[in-house]
Amino acid sequence: MEDLREDRPVDLVAALARARSSERPGADTPAGTAVRTWPGPPLPIPEAGPADLDLRTLLLLSLAASDDSGRLRPASSAGALHPVDAELVVGAGCSLPPGRYGYDPLRHRVHPIGRPADGTPPGVTAELSVTARRTVSHYGHRAWPLLLLDTGHAAAALFLAARALRVDEPATRLDGLTGNPLAAVHIPPPDGRSPTRRAGGTRVPEAAGGPPTPAELLARRSTAPPLPGAPSDDALRAVLSVAVRAGGSELRWCAAVGPPRPGLVELTPEGTALRRYAAGEARPALAAWAAGQAWVADAGAVLLAHGCPGDADAAHIRLAHLRAGFAVHLAHVTARRHGLAARPVGSWQQADLGAALGAAPDRDWVVHALALGTCHADEENTT
Ligand SMILES: Cc1cc2nc3c(=O)[nH]c(=O)nc-3n(C[C@H](O)[C@H](O)[C@H](O)COP(=O)(O)O)c2cc1C
Repeated sequence: MEDLREDRPVDLVAALARARSSERPGADTPAGTAVRTWPGPPLPIPEAGPADLDLRTLLLLSLAASDDSGRLRPASSAGALHPVDAELVVGAGCSLPPGRYGYDPLRHRVHPIGRPADGTPPGVTAELSVTARRTVSHYGHRAWPLLLLDTGHAAAALFLAARALRVDEPATRLDGLTGNPLAAVHIPPPDGRSPTRRAGGTRVPEAAGGPPTPAELLARRSTAPPLPGAPSDDALRAVLSVAVRAGGSELRWCAAVGPPRPGLVELTPEGTALRRYAAGEARPALAAWAAGQAWVADAGAVLLAHGCPGDADAAHIRLAHLRAGFAVHLAHVTARRHGLAARPVGSWQQADLGAALGAAPDRDWVVHALALGTCHADEENTT
């Protein structure tokens, strides 16, 4: 059997089937270092000139750790294990000289690892890959879907940081076509010298309310369970709408809601309203499927990304999970903007949503989720 700690290649089709099974992971194994060992000296990132893309702030708002253990970062991560590594391909117009750099998120330093290649576009391209061992250390055979979801979250954190810096056209490459890098985010310099098309990326529509502020990004956290309180229809529609627009065509999105009318709701095709497409309380089944996390049954609502059938090939699996992580991260920041508590839920076993709703089995699996509530239980108790 393939060693799951290998960063690549991994047989993703087999890895996903096993992660979705009822098999339980064994005891924890060593996670290794929290940062990849980059060669060469660590360098501080210089202050940006007025015409430069400010890489120091971009990384501070997206990937940098704000505590010594490295767990607290603007990007969320399953088990706070942060397996995503970033290489920066720097072109003209940035606060670092052109070249390739490895990023150390604990020290907020860069390591020069290569000369600039011919044809490097202006701005920076952050290429994301994973050190699988970090996530495997706790999740064992359940790690690979989480590694892909984490990469999507990190890409979204970079995208949002670029928007917070008022970059008009950050372009994400989450096509799932390569195992390394798994994803790339291209951010042009302020004067727009690099058209998005040249980087081969996809434009992501903006959430209502405009770009995020730096403070919003640094304040994002996953609310500790429980997450009681049903979100209003308006807030749920805003969160679903961001997820649908960022999630691409491979995934479908719905939300499980509780009383007074428990069931699954989705956006209407125009995206202007919610409609019910299944009746009945789904949250206890979701809690059982989410590695038995009982608190999920009491969350005010659970946003679900689903799809990725059992016969999906490796590229499709990568694409669906990268997109789900990306969209759930954007949805998380939108949820906070609407005053909601939110927590991603990424470990799903036997979560065949389609079969549970009476459709053909193995076609429509839960891929990722965001539990939502109106406030934290502690707040509720004190008011
Ligand atoms: C892909 C992914 C899956 C996650 N799955 C779960 C989960 O199943 N249960 C849970 O309580 N938290 C889950 N989380 C939340 C993480 O535990 C949380 O992001 C991490 O502890 C870091 O905390 P922060 O988000 O507040 O920065 C998940 C996060 C991500 C990105």
